[in-house]
Amino acid sequence: MKKLVTLCLLLACVLSLAACGSAPAESVAAPETASAAEPAAEPEEGPAPAGEPEAEAPAAAEVEETEPAAETHSDILVVYFSATGTTRGVAEKIASLTGGDLAEIVPAQPYTAEDLNYNDRSTRATVEQNTPEARPEIAEEISLEGYSTVYLGYPIWWGDAPRILLTFVENHDFTGITVIPFCTSGGSGAGRTGETLGEHAGTGNFLASTRLDDGISNEKLQDWIASKN
Ligand SMILES: Cc1cc2nc3c(=O)[nH]c(=O)nc-3n(C[C@H](O)[C@H](O)[C@H](O)COP(=O)(O)O)c2cc1C
Repeated sequence: MKKLVTLCLLLACVLSLAACGSAPAESVAAPETASAAEPAAEPEEGPAPAGEPEAEAPAAAEVEETEPAAETHSDILVVYFSATGTTRGVAEKIASLTGGDLAEIVPAQPYTAEDLNYNDRSTRATVEQNTPEARPEIAEEISLEGYSTVYLGYPIWWGDAPRILLTFVENHDFTGITVIPFCTSGGSGAGRTGETLGEHAGTGNFLASTRLDDGISNEKLQDWIASKN
């Protein structure tokens, strides 16, 4: 009988212990699930921790941009006209690679999007290109003093350099200067635009123009620069 009572007591203890053990197992399940969901949601919706990735990205871009700019060559000037920014991008790369100075031919009357709408032949840019004597005014004087090499950039408009380039070359003395023309376009080549600009300038050594792709790599641009020296 004693043995039976002891056995019953042992059984009761084992059962109560088992019951105690199962309760915490269920209660920890909930936090586990919740904490698993948190990391996935936080990076997408919350602010970036301490802004570190954002702070690093521009720094890397700056290095890439400034790295090629070796020493400054005060005898090199990169002059450009750009109505929509494409030629500007190429000109900036050339200035960076050569260490040259950069100057923009700014029209006294800026070109609006409507002025540049070549689908409408009555708009300003197209009318100017169809008017050989058109000489759009330039807002600011660009001095060529002290420069022996001038890179001259422009977009192709109706197979030619924009008339404002004629305003520029006709009003500057390029004596003793080598002019390296370059252009961007939707696909057309540079044609004889470099030679034509030289004829209008009447001074300076104008080379043939080259069409440069707006996405040109620094390596290819460097090769082109080297080929002109
Ligand atoms: C009035 C006008 C005429 C254009 N004519 C030509 C053309 O004859 N051939 C061509 O390939 N692209 C032509 N284009 C496209 C530009 O040459 C091209 O978009 C250029 O890269 C723009 O340079 P920008 O952003 O420096 O102004 C013309 C653009 C305009 C606004």
